[in-house]
Amino acid sequence: MTALEKVGSPPTRLEGTALHDWDYLVQEDRAHRLIYTDPAIFEAEMTRIFGGTWTYLAHESEIPKPNDFITRRMGLRPLIIVRDAEGRLRALYNRCTHRGTTLCRWEKGNTKSFQCPYHGWNFLNSGKLRGVPWPEGYAGDMHDPKFNLAQVPRVESYRGFIFGTLSMDALPLPGHLGPIAEIIDQWLDRNPGGKVVVCEANRFRYKGNWKLAYDNSCDGYHVAYSHRSLLETENRFAGENAKGMAYYRNSPDAQPMYMRYTGHGNHFKDKRPNLEQRPGGLWALESAHPGMEHYEAEFIKRYGHRAFALLDLAGSEPININIFPNLSLLGNHIQVFEPVSVDETNAIWYGTMIVDEDGSLGDDAVTDINALRMRTQEGFPNFGEVDDIANFEQIQRGLMAVEDEWVYMNRGFGIPGRVKTLEDGTITAPATDEAFMREHFKEWKRLMKVRANLAIQREP
Ligand code: FES
Ligand SMILES: [Fe+2]
Repeated sequence: MTALEKVGSPPTRLEGTALHDWDYLVQEDRAHRLIYTDPAIFEAEMTRIFGGTWTYLAHESEIPKPNDFITRRMGLRPLIIVRDAEGRLRALYNRCTHRGTTLCRWEKGNTKSFQCPYHGWNFLNSGKLRGVPWPEGYAGDMHDPKFNLAQVPRVESYRGFIFGTLSMDALPLPGHLGPIAEIIDQWLDRNPGGKVVVCEANRFRYKGNWKLAYDNSCDGYHVAYSHRSLLETENRFAGENAKGMAYYRNSPDAQPMYMRYTGHGNHFKDKRPNLEQRPGGLWALESAHPGMEHYEAEFIKRYGHRAFALLDLAGSEPININIFPNLSLLGNHIQVFEPVSVDETNAIWYGTMIVDEDGSLGDDAVTDINALRMRTQEGFPNFGEVDDIANFEQIQRGLMAVEDEWVYMNRGFGIPGRVKTLEDGTITAPATDEAFMREHFKEWKRLMKVRANLAIQREP
């Protein structure tokens, strides 16, 4: 046995000068358990992070037409994301200004106005109060803007990805995204017309803090252990050409894949260097799944020499792009993390389809590709995400051990020459390093410390 570690009185949320000492709670190579377990810290995050920085809300393809809407959340705030009659994107608070009930109870739809189910106040989809039942019962002016719905003052879309923030100090969205915008471009531009359309989702809820998912989003260290059964299945089929995650089987740091941190909490893990640049190169990497040989043979029969280029459009893009705090693009999925409470989170995996606006692929090919994309997009949520979620829940349990206070993120830290800062300021490291986590926690800490300049807005 080594020396006893004196624990004294570790900080808890009731006493704890440490509670708001962010430099104590998040250090260079470790983070304190409280940031995952303390409801007061969670509550602060719901304004300083979710709302305090650009937060992903929805995809434009979910509300393509004027008057389309979809209900979502920013942190815990219920929102209605609408494309109003003029085509302008808005994020309305889904909260009636009368007595506060949820105004719209539908998940999505198309409407010019929303009628409150409680007392019938009616709001235009611009957020303006249109009318109230029996207005003669009100002495004051019901046209006062204070009765119009609150809305997120800054809503911007980057190539279809709609973000919102309450922060008046945040950079305009393209500047905030910075170098990761180019990686999003690459993710989109391999598809016809540089577009995807969001379809339905695999929905998970786990009993753990939302940050556990973001901490895992760029983690190349856990793969060989956490996803062992998936890896063994892939290895059985892999042979010479490692498929999908089989790259993690032996010394993954020796592979050409890498992680990169691009600022503002954003990072990506790039497995594309593992890819052969030829039609069918991406398809060759696709994880094994039932029936894939049959699909391949059918594509060759139907499309001849075009088959492998088309199969690549169904293949999962070998990259994880993570936009702090709640969005990941992985394979062909759009994954969103939705905090529910300090120890509960929704992890939603939206599938994507391709579209062929200029008709260059032809309807049959697009239908076949999208049918196959459904198959390739079933794999990871069903066989991989469940492993990750099990880890998140077990971490949350582990963190209930009050005296053992720290979570370490020191892999790759302090080894000369291992983590490199490039000329453009981005930071790169081998795929198993925790440099991405150390860096996104610097952004987390910056946002938690700042006295945020937040606002909401109402129609005049
Ligand atoms: S709460 Fe909406 S009309 Fe009363
Ligand atoms: Fe994983």
